[in-house]
Amino acid sequence: MNPPRKLHIKSYGCQMNVYDAQRMVDTLAPEGFVETSSVDDADLVILNTCHIREKASEKVYSELGRLRVAKDEAARHGRHMSIAVAGCVAQAEGNEIIRRAPVVDVVVGPQSYHHLPQLLARAKSHGRALETEFPVDDKFGFLAPPKPEAIRARGISSFVTVQEGCDKFCTFCVVPYTRGAEVSRPVARIVDDVLRLADNGVREITLIGQNVNAYHGEGPDGRTWSLGTLLHRLADIPGIVRLRYSTSHPRDVEESLIAAHRDLPALMPFVHLPVQSGSDRILAAMNRKHTADDYRRVIDRFRAARQDIAFSSDFIVGFPGETEEDFAATLALVRQIGYAGAYSFKYSPRPGTPAADMRETVSAGEMDERLVRLQGLIDSQQSAFNAATIGNTVDVLFERAARNPGQIVGRTAYLQPAHVMASVDIIGQVLPVAIESLERYSLLGELADPPHARPSPPAFSQMTISSQTTTGA
Ligand code: 5AD
Ligand code: SF4
Repeated sequence: MNPPRKLHIKSYGCQMNVYDAQRMVDTLAPEGFVETSSVDDADLVILNTCHIREKASEKVYSELGRLRVAKDEAARHGRHMSIAVAGCVAQAEGNEIIRRAPVVDVVVGPQSYHHLPQLLARAKSHGRALETEFPVDDKFGFLAPPKPEAIRARGISSFVTVQEGCDKFCTFCVVPYTRGAEVSRPVARIVDDVLRLADNGVREITLIGQNVNAYHGEGPDGRTWSLGTLLHRLADIPGIVRLRYSTSHPRDVEESLIAAHRDLPALMPFVHLPVQSGSDRILAAMNRKHTADDYRRVIDRFRAARQDIAFSSDFIVGFPGETEEDFAATLALVRQIGYAGAYSFKYSPRPGTPAADMRETVSAGEMDERLVRLQGLIDSQQSAFNAATIGNTVDVLFERAARNPGQIVGRTAYLQPAHVMASVDIIGQVLPVAIESLERYSLLGELADPPHARPSPPAFSQMTISSQTTTGA
């Protein structure tokens, strides 16, 4: 038997890229690849790139400069190190990468990962391989399922892609160009994935897609299923105690999704619902297809279905034409909704998008200043949300041993990290925790005696969100 070849993947950007990286590992496992955390002893290095905001491609080229040194060093020891560029920069600038970076052996777009073994073989025989164009119906081409050991090693929480691509064409966004048109996976394949994950210890599933609530997959009954119907089906799978989904678009919130929040205790009361701006003028220029009031009404529908629900969002400041009045409307919306957390970004023109042709009117200084004001407001809401948990007993799904000896860390319904002193046996269980204090973004508490009530509603809706950025919607 050949010795295993070593694979190192460096992923940037969104949850979808984290998931894709795992699927690349799974697809290359039957080829004899095992993952390594070190670049230097890797036989194959994959850069899984992100194109959503500024400086993405420059970052890739400077990373490739470093990899050239590692590749030369490997060659000096008689080893060939292959280098592949994957992800959205590969999709958007594949030919340019091949031209500018001779160190790269393979360029592969997000819709072609199932061809990685053939691409590597082609690169070996022909020198280099590029594949970024694929027919839409092949988008979810066969990717090897993870092995049970791989699932167990990745822990009790897992992403599952249910949908890819976006048809919304917000004027600032590259996703419709890099990830292509919206496509949904059939229900049966998703159920198979979740059954396999649950059988191997996964307790929490986050369904992901660039516009996840536009999901319309083929059901086993031959009908088209919505995200709400899919969630009902997945909630029946033994072992799955928590369900989440990300990222949603306010225009695609169907009644079945609201009903799922009302009916399914496993569906966590925490929704990432990007709004981008609170100004109708800017929302129109962004081609968001909703007004600030439409957004408020969607939030109200969720809250009517589940009163302990909390929200996070994405915001862009400094979109072309954004005045101080427009920005004030964004701050007003944030005050009105009361977020548990949010990501905010300075607008950056993305080549090929309609907004890149708009005249930029907001200076770099104004953008910085608006970002600071918006983040200050969001941070204060997030801190208040976290502080409101102190003194309450909340459900925590325990994930792993923490850095401090004897401590186990898990997450609340709102993704707040929570630490308790306990035995590792509690990993994988949802247990009530009496929250005693807050250290930065982490809650500290003690295991409480069951039974207890459902996660107590926060005083108002704020919380901590994980550092992983989102994509889409
Ligand atoms: N400039 C700044 N932020 C952007 N986003 C997407 N495109 C851009 C851009 N050109 C942000 C949006 C989106 C999040 C994933 O990234 O807020 O929701
Ligand atoms: Fe689609 Fe979201 Fe990008 Fe808009 S911001 S085009 S909804 S992925």
